[in-house]
Amino acid sequence: MIQDLAQTLEALYNRYRVLNTGKVATYIPELAKADPDSFCIAVTMVDGTRHVVGDAECAFTLQSISKPLVFGHALTTVGRNIVIDLTGVEPTGRSFSSMVGLDEIGRPLNPMVNAGAIVTTSLLPGRTASERYQGLRAAIAHYTGELPELDQAVYESEKRTGDRNRALGYLLKDKGTIEGDIDEHLELYFKSCSPLTNTPQLANTAATLANFGVNPVTGHRALDETYIKDLLVVMLMNGMYNYAGRWAYEVGIPAKSGVSGGLMGVIPGVMGIAVYSPRLDEYGNSTRGLAACRELVEKYKLHIFDQNMLPWKR
Ligand code: DON
Repeated sequence: MIQDLAQTLEALYNRYRVLNTGKVATYIPELAKADPDSFCIAVTMVDGTRHVVGDAECAFTLQSISKPLVFGHALTTVGRNIVIDLTGVEPTGRSFSSMVGLDEIGRPLNPMVNAGAIVTTSLLPGRTASERYQGLRAAIAHYTGELPELDQAVYESEKRTGDRNRALGYLLKDKGTIEGDIDEHLELYFKSCSPLTNTPQLANTAATLANFGVNPVTGHRALDETYIKDLLVVMLMNGMYNYAGRWAYEVGIPAKSGVSGGLMGVIPGVMGIAVYSPRLDEYGNSTRGLAACRELVEKYKLHIFDQNMLPWKR
């Protein structure tokens, strides 16, 4: 059903490399140094076949794309009941760093916005801060295929400018949603935004989710199959910030974007897509990323509710 994919990706790359709408994120000063013209599209199929066009080597930080992975790691280590009880799964309809998105008893609405991710981060296991980060790093490596390095400059920049996240963290602590050393949890949250990756690794990550938890390139399991739908549902409902509803309506694949310009999309049972381009729209989503995903999904009819996606039609 998916024919001429390499040519399609090449055509998308050429069509959208000249799309110059959107702006590189500047609220974290270190992110503002990204080259606005960097662009890469990568696909990893569930059989491990890989395609890439553009700047495959260009490294960028995961930013919010780590949120589903942190969520998965929390589910694995402390269990679904505890995690869902503390974070919820409702869309916020607000920006990712909104202070308003807590429910009446002080819980975040979902783990894809900052408040929810600070909660899932607080649940990550380990005796020391370093052990907790190394555990997360190893978990990320199962998806990407490589142990990520931390971008120290971005991490420092996150910390320097992270007062709103601190405010959210302290509010969540005050409400009793977070326990333990809030400063250590916040450190870990800032670190979770700052591991380096690239577009082919991001396509592997999406393909691991598309392949029900097994990385199709390395053959290693990153996430128990039982938790796949947890991640895919929150990505579909909340993965694209306050554009998530329109994304589900028009594109209709579980996805997650980050303010560094990365975007991954999951076509369950078929493939993972990743795009990197740091020019962002007003919601914080990559403009070229949105355009390329939208066209790719439209061309092959990959919306999860499209006729083609029904298993008996494949
Ligand atoms: O918390 C922040 O400011 C960012 N590092 C979050 C990253 C992001 O991509 C937007 N998030 N939900």
